[in-house]
Amino acid sequence: MDSFIIKGGTPLVGTVPISGAKNAALPILAATILTDEPVYLSNVPQLQDISTMLELLGGMGATFERSSEAAYTELKAQTSSIFRYQAPYELVKTMRASILVLGPLLARFGKAQVSFPGGCAIGSRPVDLHLKGLQALGADITVEGGYIHAAVPDKLRGAQFTFDVVSVTGTENVMMAAVLAEGTTVIHNAACEPEVVDLANFLITLGAQIRGAGTPHLTIEGVTRLGGGEYRVMMDRIEAGTFLAAGAISGGDLTITDVEPHAMNVVLEKFAAMGVELSVSANQIRLNTKGKRLKAVDITTAPFPGFPTDMQAQFVAMNAVAKGRSTVVETIFENRFMHVQELARMGADIKLQGNSAYIAGVAKLTGAPVMATDLRASASLVLAALVAEGETHIDRIYHIDRGYERIELKLNDVGAHIQRQK
Ligand code: UD1
Repeated sequence: MDSFIIKGGTPLVGTVPISGAKNAALPILAATILTDEPVYLSNVPQLQDISTMLELLGGMGATFERSSEAAYTELKAQTSSIFRYQAPYELVKTMRASILVLGPLLARFGKAQVSFPGGCAIGSRPVDLHLKGLQALGADITVEGGYIHAAVPDKLRGAQFTFDVVSVTGTENVMMAAVLAEGTTVIHNAACEPEVVDLANFLITLGAQIRGAGTPHLTIEGVTRLGGGEYRVMMDRIEAGTFLAAGAISGGDLTITDVEPHAMNVVLEKFAAMGVELSVSANQIRLNTKGKRLKAVDITTAPFPGFPTDMQAQFVAMNAVAKGRSTVVETIFENRFMHVQELARMGADIKLQGNSAYIAGVAKLTGAPVMATDLRASASLVLAALVAEGETHIDRIYHIDRGYERIELKLNDVGAHIQRQK
């Protein structure tokens, strides 16, 4: 299992290009199931989760032509040859987002079997709302032998559906199914995340009729078929925020490029509240700490446009070394503070109570052996290691490879000292 050895203490200075968004590319790849014509995608990030999605779709019979042998930032997807309608346990257990194929398979082929996603490190993460939404459109759903068996007796039909809880992939699944349903679907309390909007824009490029993306009410007029098309995946706002955090925690001066700052407003406001200087232009953001210690900020996670849960761990790491006390409240996932115990091993002073972390900023962290537990928790350990005195050894970094493209190379390019050990 790969690990990172990180020598801390160097302020990061320079420019980092941001990749395409994992959480947009995954549903967009799943959505290619909806058309039998070729789809050309660009800005697809090179990540383990994307490889898993390609393997999943490939196992169904889809084919992908890559821009080069080794890379797939540009892809031609062709799903006309799909002959199997199943997402097997072996893949779903490594990536919960595999559930995203359920809606598209049902809409195009009228049947699907998807292994029931189990719990994961950050909580139980049920899929009940995905299933209720698809049932509202007329799907018959049973769970047997660990699999969700879904079938459409006649045709999916448009319906009104209200999500009890805002769900990103739930909204995406129901939206993808509704695109080929007969009649009009209205989704209330829909997720407003930019990645949901990106998926809607992709579907619109293929001929779908969707209004209201980015608002809590989505209206979808079903069409009989979708065509092919070309689409560029949006930038990864979580990767962007993580690199800004790397600049901030290391006391550096970092510029990130290829970004869409408007998708990051609340996160940028929190950076500003930490006392860093931000210069924002159309597609790049410069963060300069001017060598000053960060000021602690309070955070409460919430669905978009609130503060993203996927940036919570990174802000806990920054608060751990910031001046002052802070409270970080996690409202989306019940068990998303796995990084706290590891940060404590590096000298952080954090008390956990229920869904809140009470942080007293310390003057310094020290390198230690720590373990990555989930994707964003691992990112927070890398951040802490960048500022820690001495050497930090992070084990199980396969979690990081799921969601960050070449993170150690990008960080080393701007002055970090990270070595991957096989
Ligand atoms: C997506 C993102 C993930 C991010 C999360 C919240 C992808 C591939 N992943 O995950 O990175 O952290 O949004 O922004 O886009 N819930 C239910 N029933 C359901 C579905 C969800 O109760 O059927 C609950 C969840 O337990 C959680 C909340 O709803 O408490 C939000 O989860 P959800 O938005 O669905 O997260 P994901 O779509 O899995």
